[in-house]
Amino acid sequence: MTHYRIAWMPGDGIGHDVMNATRIVLDKLALDAEYIPADIGWEFWCSEGDPLPQRTIDIMKDCDCALFGAITSKPKQEADAELSPDLQSRGLVYRSPIVRLRQLFDLYVNLRPCKAYPGNPLNYREGIDLVVFRENTEDLYSGVEFHPLPLDLRAALEAHSPGMKAFKEDSSEDIAISCRVVTRRGSRRIVRKAFEYAQQHGYKAVTLVEKPNVIRETSGLITREARKIAADEFPTIPLWEANVDAMMMWLIKNPLDYGVMVTTNMFGDILSDLAAQLVGGLGFASSGNIGDDFAVFEPTHGSAPKYAGQNKVNPIATFLAAKLMLDWLSEKEKADALEHAIAGVIAEGKTRTYDMGGSHTSTQMAEAVADRI
Ligand code: NAI
Ligand code: MG
Repeated sequence: MTHYRIAWMPGDGIGHDVMNATRIVLDKLALDAEYIPADIGWEFWCSEGDPLPQRTIDIMKDCDCALFGAITSKPKQEADAELSPDLQSRGLVYRSPIVRLRQLFDLYVNLRPCKAYPGNPLNYREGIDLVVFRENTEDLYSGVEFHPLPLDLRAALEAHSPGMKAFKEDSSEDIAISCRVVTRRGSRRIVRKAFEYAQQHGYKAVTLVEKPNVIRETSGLITREARKIAADEFPTIPLWEANVDAMMMWLIKNPLDYGVMVTTNMFGDILSDLAAQLVGGLGFASSGNIGDDFAVFEPTHGSAPKYAGQNKVNPIATFLAAKLMLDWLSEKEKADALEHAIAGVIAEGKTRTYDMGGSHTSTQMAEAVADRI
């Protein structure tokens, strides 16, 4: 049996509630692990000017992986206003600690399984089993953004698109640009992970969700690479292609027709929220941010400030994140035992948090799951 070191990062708000509940379940599984607390979130932005302090990164580097709750983040003006007074004039800029973690540890896969556990009153339809592979480091979230528009960039854009009126007429102060960066390497590795997963878990196809007919270069690049990988490396698994807008309709109409889906960062963000809602919403949506050497597992919900500290929200999303973590650690037996226990509690229908129409606490949900392990 391996001994693990797991960075334990509750974050803000209900991050603490769901992580406390998850600890009950992990303790029952008797995973041989140390959980090392690490600071992340709004609190540390306000008090230290950094929501992801260097000491946290150091802890993570010394761990096998991390389990993360949720953080609060606020727009620019609030971020500046809530910064401790002695830090205010230093020109500090808030940067999303989650995005930073993904870039720092090159966590290029965002894995989001969305399964309808039988008996969940929130299932849109029984039998749904979707798995989203979202590229996690590029695209519109790479942080390559400009406002006001710099002069040299403006000149280049004007030369490129003489028909675009804004570059001629609007002041640079009135134009903002975010770059959609898609690379061949980034495209190939996410598509390959999706196919490997489909192969390992017996899914009949992989659906690429993009928009190459309009966004011809970026969506075009990942589409061309996906076709090559499908043909060269996975000839027995068909590659289906769907436009992202149409996919939103197909998933509502025929959710049982789909399984593994792969896409770029922002489309994946949207697609996975829709997929999650089909199987119960934020109380059930977990994700893994996975690289070649490190991974961070989390529920996809945020810090839900209005419920913070009430021990009320559904911790199942975080249990499922812990299940993904166990899978990634190759603790298959424990991962299966945990999923089986979660499914058992959902099917029995006696213990339900408020989102499921019940009134049980996060702790009671944890105890019900722990009892079945
Ligand atoms: P949120 O996900 O925190 O909550 C929205 C609503 O969803 C809640 O008010 C609650 O009704 C429901 N909800 C969320 N988690 C639930 C759970 N486990 N069980 C039952 N119901 C649940 O999103 P919101 O309100 O837009 O953002 C709050 C803060 O969280 C913001 O500061 C935002 O920036 C941050 N955020 C952080 C994320 C992260 O840490 N990964 C992701 C999304 C938002
Ligand atoms: Mg999201």
